[in-house]
Amino acid sequence: MTQDDVIGVERLTSEAFHDLDVRTHRPHLPAPAPRSPEKSVNWQIRVRHMLEHDAGGCFVAEDASGLIGASVSLRRELMWILATYVVKPGLQGRGVGRQLLDASLQHGRGCLRGLIAASEDPPAVRRYRMAGFTLHPAMYLMGRVPREALPVVERVRAGSASDIDLMNSVDRQTREAAHGVDHELLTSMYRLVVVDRSTGSGYAYVEPGGGPYLLAATNRRTAADLLWETLAASSPERSVVVGHVTAVNEWAVDVGMAARMDLHTAGYLAMRRMKPPMPYLPSGHFL
Ligand SMILES: CC(C)(COP(=O)(O)OP(=O)(O)OC[C@H]1O[C@@H](n2cnc3c(N)ncnc32)[C@H](O)[C@@H]1OP(=O)(O)O)[C@@H](O)C(=O)NCCC(=O)NCCS
Repeated sequence: MTQDDVIGVERLTSEAFHDLDVRTHRPHLPAPAPRSPEKSVNWQIRVRHMLEHDAGGCFVAEDASGLIGASVSLRRELMWILATYVVKPGLQGRGVGRQLLDASLQHGRGCLRGLIAASEDPPAVRRYRMAGFTLHPAMYLMGRVPREALPVVERVRAGSASDIDLMNSVDRQTREAAHGVDHELLTSMYRLVVVDRSTGSGYAYVEPGGGPYLLAATNRRTAADLLWETLAASSPERSVVVGHVTAVNEWAVDVGMAARMDLHTAGYLAMRRMKPPMPYLPSGHFL
């Protein structure tokens, strides 16, 4: 994959993930919407950054019609991460995905640990298990957060790029590999909140509409404070989501319950040679 492929791959992932959302839609939940223009721009910024730092982990598949698939993977310290994986709807289930994943896995040679935010598409899950990943079912919380549910959170302060060393240290303790260069991009894209006290450290990037994009902390109490801070950024009129919650992160389920959010299940956190990180809410792209 090269920088010239980014726009085409963005369109391909937008089409394939909308197709997946429609196929796996549960009738009691809001109807799936196509990716917004703002999210498409952010997608391109992220993947340009990944290509800059991990060109050897990013691949496209083509046939006579043009682009038909892509996989984007990263290597952070000794962890391999799959950031995007897609084959064009109508051409799935014919072995293209296997070739893409095998190529991207080569980028993780020598890394025992691996991490994937897996969809619930049966062919995807089959590929990950065949590649030796353990599938941990994931939950998400969704709902409007009433103002009166928000507690007073005292230890949290605004963060900046000067907190990157602290965040890398917290990453190493919770998920065994720092985000490194990804923090340089994320601090420019998201609001950051930080706790740095003798009683606990941690950080959260906040989604523009509230809720966490990525959260990691050295203990549950600090993680819960940070999660509340991200929920306080939501509007009481608009639904907010806390995603990729594994069973070991029950502290997040408890915050969601106290915030009167609804609990659902979706997809998996797939891991190789590591325990589910905790307290930790991964980003779907940088994990
Ligand atoms: C996941 C994805 C990239 C895999 O690409 P692909 O070209 O379909 O993959 P392959 O054909 O190489 O492998 C799919 C495997 O699932 C099997 N399969 C196909 N349809 C299936 C179904 N409905 N249920 C279960 N398994 C199925 C295939 O037989 C194959 O297994 P095998 O090689 O052991 O026979 C592609 O299906 C896709 O884009 N899915 C939607 C987006 C998505 O979920 N991406 C992953 C995000 S984490």
